[in-house]
Amino acid sequence: MRQYGAVVLAAGKGTRMKSNYCKVLHPVAGKPMLGYVLDAARGLDLDKICVVVGHQAEEVMRRFEASDVKFILQEPQLGTGHAVKQCSGLFEKFDGHILILCGDTPLITTEILSDLVRFHEDNSSRVTVLTTTLQVPFGYGRIIRDNNDCVSRIVEDRDASDPEKSINEINTGIYIIESNLLFDLLDKLRADNAQNEYYLTDVVSGANKLNVPVCGCHTADSSVVVGVNSRGDLADVNAMMWWRLRRQLMSDGVTLLDPNSFYPDFGITVGPDTVIYPNVMITGASSIGEDCVIDPSCLINDSKIGNRVKILLGSKLDKVEVEDDASIGPMAHLRPNAKIGRNARIGNFVEVKNTIVGAGTKAAHLTYLGDSQIGRDVNIGCGTITCNYDGEKKHRTIIEDRCFVGSDVQFVAPVRIGSGSVIGAGSTITKDVPPDSLAVARSKQKVFPLRLGQGSDSKNEDR
Ligand code: UD1
Ligand code: CA
Repeated sequence: MRQYGAVVLAAGKGTRMKSNYCKVLHPVAGKPMLGYVLDAARGLDLDKICVVVGHQAEEVMRRFEASDVKFILQEPQLGTGHAVKQCSGLFEKFDGHILILCGDTPLITTEILSDLVRFHEDNSSRVTVLTTTLQVPFGYGRIIRDNNDCVSRIVEDRDASDPEKSINEINTGIYIIESNLLFDLLDKLRADNAQNEYYLTDVVSGANKLNVPVCGCHTADSSVVVGVNSRGDLADVNAMMWWRLRRQLMSDGVTLLDPNSFYPDFGITVGPDTVIYPNVMITGASSIGEDCVIDPSCLINDSKIGNRVKILLGSKLDKVEVEDDASIGPMAHLRPNAKIGRNARIGNFVEVKNTIVGAGTKAAHLTYLGDSQIGRDVNIGCGTITCNYDGEKKHRTIIEDRCFVGSDVQFVAPVRIGSGSVIGAGSTITKDVPPDSLAVARSKQKVFPLRLGQGSDSKNEDR
C-alpha cells in the first residue's frame, strides 16, 4: 500500500462569515469545525497530518496542539494553492500521496475518506478529486469532465461562464495527489483569476497538461462534504450535525419527544431510557445517566448527571454533579461546583453554587446555597439564604447531617451548625450552633392592642 500524508487547510479568514474569529474555530454542535476534520483524518492510517494556519494562527495552534499534528504558517494568505505550497518543505522527502482537506467541511467522515483512498488506489490514480452533485451548486467549483470521464479542469463559481454554472457536479475541496507531482504543479500556479489567488483547483488542468489523467471520485452523499462559507451554511451544517447526534442517541435507547428541538453538543452521552422533552440543550462535556427525565426548556452544560434523576421544567445546570435519584427544579439554578447527593431534592427557585448537598437533603423552595457544605437528610426551609459574601471575601456555611432549618433563615458565614440541630424560622444565624441544639435568633413578637378610631401615630412607633 502507498504511504499517505494529509494537509488540512485552515488559514483563511472566512471573509463571508463577517466574523472577528477565524472560520475553522466556529463551533458546530459545540466543537470547532476544524476538530471534526482532524478527527476524520485521524481515522485513517496516515504518515503525518499538517495543518496550514494563518488567520489567528496562534489561537488555532493552541486549540489543536497535538503530537500527531504539524502546523505550517501561511502568511499572507494568497489562496488554497498557495496554502498547500507552504507544506512543500515538510513533504520534501516524502514518497507518497497527500490527502488534501479543508478545515471548513465539518461533516466529513473517516468512511468517506477511506472510500476515496480505495478509489485512488483501485484506479492507480496520481490525482483524484472527490466530487458530488448538488441541486444548488452556487459557490462551489464546478467539475468539467472530458470524453474519458476524467476531470479536465475545475472552474470556480466566480470565474464560470453561464453554461459552466449550470453544471451540478462540484468540487468538494478534497483531493489525493501524488506528493512530488503536487508540488511540481503548485510551482506552476498563476493567480490570473477573479480573486487574484493561487487556486489549488488549477492543479487539475496542470496535471492534464502533463498528460496525467485526473480521476473524479463521485460520492452520492453530498451531505458529508458541505463547506461552510457563511453564517447560513453554518446553521445548515449545525442542523445536520444535530441530526446525526440525535439519531445516534435514539439508536442508543434515548427517547427524544421532539428530536427537532433537542440540541446536543458533540460528545455528550445519555443513558438508555432517559426521556428528553422539547427545547432542551445539553452541551460541553455532559453525561446523563439512565432512566432520567429532562423536562422542557432545560440547559445542562459540562455536568455529570446520575441515573433516575429528574430535571424539571426550566432548570439550568452548569458544571455540576447530580447523583442518582435526585430531583432538580422546576426553575432551579445549579451553578459551578454544585454537588447534589443521592435522592436529594432541589426545588423551585433554588440556586446552588460551590456547595455540596448531602444525600436525602431537601431544599424545596426559594433558597440560595453558596459556598456551603450541607450534610445528609437536612431540611432547608423555604427562603433560606447563606450570606456568603461580606463585600470582599466569600465564606463557608457548614450544616451537618440531619439538621432542620426553618423557613426564612439567614446564615451569616462563616458559620457551622452541628448535626441534628434545629434552627427556628426567621432566624439570622451569626454564631456556630453546637450539635443537637435549637437555635432561634429573631426579635420577640410584640402584640399591641389596636385602639380603633383613636389612633395616634406617635404611639405606634415601636411596633
Ligand atoms: C474551495 C475550492 C472550490 C470548492 C470548495 C469546496 C479553491 C480555489 N476552491 O472554494 O472549488 O468547491 O472549496 O468547499 O480551492 N484557505 C487557506 N489559505 C488561503 C485560502 C483558503 O488555508 O489562502 C483555507 C480556508 O481556511 C478553508 C479552505 O482553505 O478552510 C477553503 O477555502 P475557501 O475560501 O473556503 O474556498 P472556497 O471558496 O469554499
Ligand atoms: Ca469553503
